[in-house]
Amino acid sequence: MSRITKYICTECGHVTTTKTGKCPACNSWGTLEILQETKTDSPSQNLPGVKIISALDVKAPPRIATGIDELDRVLGGGLVPGGVVLIGGQPGIGKSTLLLQAAGSVAKIYGKPVLYISGEESDAQIALRASRINTANDKLYLYSGANIDDALRNVEGGKFSFLVLDSVQAMTTGNDSGWPGTVTQVRAVAQRVVDTARQYMIPAVVIGHITKDGKIAGPMMLEHMVDTVLNFSGEGYSSYRMLRAVKNRYGSTDELGVFEMTEGGLSPVSDKSGLYWNRDDSAVAGVAMTIALEGSTPLAAEIQTLATRTIFPYPRRTSRGIELNRFQLLTAVIDRRCSISTNNHDLYINVAGGLSLQDPSADLPACAAIASALKNVPLAAGTCWLGEVGLAGEVRPVTRIDLRLKEAARLGFHTAVVSSRENVKFDGIKIVRVTHIDGALAGMITTRN
Ligand code: TYD
Ligand code: MG
Repeated sequence: MSRITKYICTECGHVTTTKTGKCPACNSWGTLEILQETKTDSPSQNLPGVKIISALDVKAPPRIATGIDELDRVLGGGLVPGGVVLIGGQPGIGKSTLLLQAAGSVAKIYGKPVLYISGEESDAQIALRASRINTANDKLYLYSGANIDDALRNVEGGKFSFLVLDSVQAMTTGNDSGWPGTVTQVRAVAQRVVDTARQYMIPAVVIGHITKDGKIAGPMMLEHMVDTVLNFSGEGYSSYRMLRAVKNRYGSTDELGVFEMTEGGLSPVSDKSGLYWNRDDSAVAGVAMTIALEGSTPLAAEIQTLATRTIFPYPRRTSRGIELNRFQLLTAVIDRRCSISTNNHDLYINVAGGLSLQDPSADLPACAAIASALKNVPLAAGTCWLGEVGLAGEVRPVTRIDLRLKEAARLGFHTAVVSSRENVKFDGIKIVRVTHIDGALAGMITTRN
């Protein structure tokens, strides 16, 4: 390929393709020199370890489904060979139960040996649990003991197809001195598991304890060493358990998995909307419904507001499930943009069921609930509200409205109030488009059926 010679002015840096005595840009004389261009052909031949990204293999990693759908979805489609997952959660939340279930399930599905290493419980305790949750089978093996080196000797030669370690804080390795659970031991034990998983290209899950402030106990490094970090948590005294990814090299961190702890172990909760909504359609002032998104999971949420006359010069604002700053901002928007006075009332907002709403689509339903509480007029039944609200009171579109409307239809809503910029239709749902919060609230509160 013939190259065009380029010239660069040593005075001003101007580049030209014609050689002239005077630089056309800065008018300096005799300053144009041939531009030495860097050779762009395959530099990687001379750069050891450097590759052209587009020439690399882009095949998605194969997945090993655990058969527990809620877990597989949070993982991004299942376990990855050679990938290590760290799962943290409060004591008693069900980490051992979930992983014993997963281990049994993988062994059953793939018919290959799976090793469950426990440094925490005795053979008898684990056997009892396995039979209680009906997960024992002849491919599910147990190693109970606190030395990871002894445990992993069994894995040599690739005899196992999946590895669970319960827990990283309960094990020690001979390579490093110290009590189990110390920073050096936790790091060394985790490193042994990561090395083993990579060497035999098998997936591994490591259970980790969390500290009082919710972090996984051990070095910060721990979370960097693994590919995926999951958080298993429960809300209040409920039997529901939430599984979320905090970090995921192989998938998104938005997905939510929900389980219920039952007599027979953890059972998946597929109808998540039922969790936070009691389906009671009796009209109460101050209550608005919305469909929030947790990752790709739509959830019906009930926003409740209470307004009481205040005797204080500074009315109280209390919120649960919606960030207080956001609640105050929405209250100010209603006050200024809708000519509904909020100043004489203490306002309390709550999202039913202990759900925490980060999704900005909760703005419009929150405003509707506040206005409804202040006027003491219930909102129209069977209606869900989906919109973000700006400081000017404008109602903005939300993400994945299609998914939300589908869930709304499934749950029996017949009307959805959305932004006028939303270009959407849905069979069986009347779409009410609103531009501004003022019109939205005036319309819906007075047209109650
Ligand atoms: P566990 O898995 O041991 O929790 P972790 O490993 O996170 O500490 O679960 C302990 C709790 O779960 C315990 O309080 C009993 C309850 N549980 C059930 O309700 N049903 C069951 O089938 C099992 C195995 C446990
Ligand atoms: Mg446990």
